[in-house]
Amino acid sequence: MNDEGHYTTTQSLDQLEQEIAGAIQAIKNDDSAEAFRIKYLGKKGLFRSLLKSVKDLSLEERKTYGGKLNALRNSTEERFGAKPWEESMEGGEEECFDPTLPAWPIPKGSIHPLTKTRNEIVDILVGMGFELAYGPDVETDYYNFEALNFPKHHPARDMQDTFFVSADVLLRTHTSPVQVRVMENQKPPIRSIMPGTVYRNEEISARSNCQFGQIEGLYIDENVSLADLKGTLLSFSRQFFGEDTDIKIRPSFFPFTEPSLEVDVRCFICKGSGCSVCKQSGWLEVLGAGMVHPNVLASSGIDNEKYTGFAFGMGIDRIALLRYGINDIRLFYENDTRFLRQF
Ligand code: PHE
Repeated sequence: MNDEGHYTTTQSLDQLEQEIAGAIQAIKNDDSAEAFRIKYLGKKGLFRSLLKSVKDLSLEERKTYGGKLNALRNSTEERFGAKPWEESMEGGEEECFDPTLPAWPIPKGSIHPLTKTRNEIVDILVGMGFELAYGPDVETDYYNFEALNFPKHHPARDMQDTFFVSADVLLRTHTSPVQVRVMENQKPPIRSIMPGTVYRNEEISARSNCQFGQIEGLYIDENVSLADLKGTLLSFSRQFFGEDTDIKIRPSFFPFTEPSLEVDVRCFICKGSGCSVCKQSGWLEVLGAGMVHPNVLASSGIDNEKYTGFAFGMGIDRIALLRYGINDIRLFYENDTRFLRQF
């Protein structure tokens, strides 16, 4: 349907001129060009029908209106004939390529703070002579508990703490089962670190999650003593937390180590004077450790008369939390890029 009814006065042709200029600009391809040609310049187009009505006008009007209409049609044909849209189509691009324009910024990702923390810990320990080893996330009761000297009635076997897949299969609750797998497959001297994800059937809160990362350490040889454990952990702590770091060793209990220890590092935020991160104590609890229990050595096929060893295990999430001063562990798992981009 044509709308020639609108353009019957000389002034209204100014409006038409504007409309046409806009319509030519809006042409993007051959299809929209053809639509334009049919609408304005075709046999049944707007100009044809407007020009047809000129003969009915007075002589004066024919001169002014008719003259202007003719001029507009000619300029429209000229502009349309120049095919201005082709410039922005394929091939035209080359002509308007401007090599001096700045490039589009390429968005960069960043290493996840947990991965970063794990990599730094692993790098330090590998630098001290430990080798990497891995075990499965889905474990058997044997490796997660039995071989680690957990008595049958131990509370850690309670459904509350462990995600069971079946009576005998579970999601590992710590990386210590990898110790057993390494000892079964290697002869001393053994120096291994075993990073991995562990799972606990715990309520999720700002301080604890049902899934987190651990790094296990194991050193077995002749004459390995508690002094070796202490020296190793002190050296690690100074490399990781800072040269002036001190460690404090407290007695603890794990079924698979004897004696068992918990290790605190001097709070690297307040340097020991007391702050909210260390809850005014001046110390941060970072790992569990101990001398490998003779029963564990024996059940893994290691001669416990000849060899001794130490083991330690640290939580990656907790260390990352302390290190970056983050107050909610769940932020690590929400994948909010506003949080992750800061690292
Ligand atoms: N497996 C213990 C835990 O998850 C940590 C640990 C590892 C303790 C090795 C002693 C020796 O809490």
